[in-house]
Amino acid sequence: MGMGHQKKLVLGGLTASTVFLYFLCVNLDSNMTWSIMPLKHFHNFSLVLWSDSRDSEEPLNRQISSDQRTPPPPALTPYPGTVPPKQPRATHTPKLKTHKDSDIVAGQKPAEEKVLDVSNSSSKSDGADKAKTRTITKGPAPKPAEPPKARGPTDPPFIGDIYMMDDHPPQTDCPDGIRNTVAKTDFGERFLRNIPVLQWANHSTREQHQRLMKYPGAHGWGGIDFNTLVETLSVLNSSANWQMLDDWKQVSNGSQCIRCAVVGNGGILKDSKKGKEIDSHDYVFRTNGAIINGFEQDVGSRTTHYTFSTNTLMNSMRSYAGVGYKGPPVTEETRYVFLPDHDRDYLLMKAAATHTLVERGKEQGKDATRYFGKDVSAQKLKMYHPDFIRYLRNRFLRSHALKTKYKNIYRPSTGATMLLAAMHTCDKVSAYGFMTPDYKNYSDHYYDRNYHSVGFFINHDLRMEMTLWQQLHQAGLIRLYMHK
Ligand SMILES: *[C@@H]1O[C@H](CO)[C@@H](O)[C@H](O)[C@H]1NC(C)=O
Ligand SMILES: *[C@@H]1O[C@H](CO)[C@@H](O)[C@H](O)[C@H]1NC(C)=O
Ligand SMILES: *[C@@H]1O[C@H](CO)[C@@H](O)[C@H](O)[C@H]1NC(C)=O
Ligand SMILES: *[C@@H]1O[C@H](CO)[C@@H](O)[C@H](O)[C@H]1NC(C)=O
Ligand SMILES: *[C@@H]1O[C@H](CO)[C@@H](O)[C@H](O)[C@H]1NC(C)=O
Ligand SMILES: *[C@@H]1O[C@H](CO)[C@@H](O)[C@H](O)[C@H]1NC(C)=O
Repeated sequence: MGMGHQKKLVLGGLTASTVFLYFLCVNLDSNMTWSIMPLKHFHNFSLVLWSDSRDSEEPLNRQISSDQRTPPPPALTPYPGTVPPKQPRATHTPKLKTHKDSDIVAGQKPAEEKVLDVSNSSSKSDGADKAKTRTITKGPAPKPAEPPKARGPTDPPFIGDIYMMDDHPPQTDCPDGIRNTVAKTDFGERFLRNIPVLQWANHSTREQHQRLMKYPGAHGWGGIDFNTLVETLSVLNSSANWQMLDDWKQVSNGSQCIRCAVVGNGGILKDSKKGKEIDSHDYVFRTNGAIINGFEQDVGSRTTHYTFSTNTLMNSMRSYAGVGYKGPPVTEETRYVFLPDHDRDYLLMKAAATHTLVERGKEQGKDATRYFGKDVSAQKLKMYHPDFIRYLRNRFLRSHALKTKYKNIYRPSTGATMLLAAMHTCDKVSAYGFMTPDYKNYSDHYYDRNYHSVGFFINHDLRMEMTLWQQLHQAGLIRLYMHK
């Protein structure tokens, strides 16, 4: 694809996103504040507001994409800087009532950007969802890392650090599981154990639509009309739709802890011989162009959860057909986890659940069983909750891109979403094929025939993700395969 075409597509995305025009506050002088408020109790969930604020600045005009010219990733020391006050406080959302008796975990500001030597570096987790937004490295040197600044009292409205809380009891009580150990780590403050990871029928109320309409793309329901939403979510009406690991009772065999392998597509997996180890986990998560055939020794053969967005799936089918990608894995144990970015995802989901053709949009007339198999049923389909994606962006991957004009197309990558979702649903998480600091030693994907360097794109922040994996590994929350 030529540069001109790419540029046009990026601009197209931006034009669409200007509907949600927000300005960043230029507010450099006040302290960070945060607060937590259970706002409202619905059937089984409540809303929580968590607000912190960050230093703001003029939006950058461009994001440079290529190696070592970008602002460096956050320091390996997690969360330097201000520690939030310990008492909940009211914030800038006056309509909402404050409660002080929250048992919800408090939030903390994501890591500051600091200089870090990344002369070696990483492999990546997914290959498809950055197509169309690749940027060109040229022009003025990027800004150096900024020293920490004082913070404004409020986030710009598009951040929306307020989430619904679900009230499902955990499936296990694994003594050294993530849920039980995260509080002792630097991630305890920002980790919300009751964040809804998946959305389902009970979430599609007018009230929720009102609330989430404000956020575009993967972060809300902006652009999804209420009827489309209800038609899609109403078929996701079983416990398998809100439970990521819905068959745990059947597979647990008396085990107290759920062990998940999360497999990215990074070149570090090539010749790793990790296949058996990966398959020995209770669950195996994969994403996008995950080619299995011929790579079993290195990547395993099972897939219990396959994560994608409609866009990344179609890109994968186009981009990786030549190296053997034919579509999502279809096995009896495979579940499909949509990352909804667009109404395309809701339409494909509905078609898959009801065995009908996609009724409109870019996939109009497509038969979803072609992707998910003839036997796909609503119980095999899941869809990330926009609150979850926004929460990941705000608290784990609050990239500098949010201060640029690309803020509406920036989101955690599909692989990052998958890994963080596993962290919120499994007890033990092993990650394979994710970007590591020596990424340049490996090709972009394990299935590349020839070496391709990792591509960096403005809609994701792969360096920040790479640093997060290092931090989570050091905190003992995930075990990251690093090839030594
Ligand atoms: C920050 O907080 C300190 C202590 O609460 C206060 O004295 C100071 O005035 C605050 N600064 C700003 C800019 O609000
Ligand atoms: C949800 O709430 C209903 C009614 O309050 C209750 O019967 C049900 O057990 C709750 N479900 C879960 C998963 O907590
Ligand atoms: C879902 O909603 C139905 C009907 O409103 C309610 O009976 C049920 O308890 C809810 N289930 C959960 C798990 O929240
Ligand atoms: C879920 O929806 C299907 C049709 O979409 C319906 O047949 C079924 O009874 C519903 N189940 C529940 C528990 O509401
Ligand atoms: C279930 O656990 C028993 C006892 O630990 C073990 O012998 C058996 O192989 C396990 N079954 C499966 C399917 O893992
Ligand atoms: C990666 O490459 C660098 C130089 O190209 C080399 O020094 C280093 O040992 C390599 N690391 C691994 C893990 O292969």
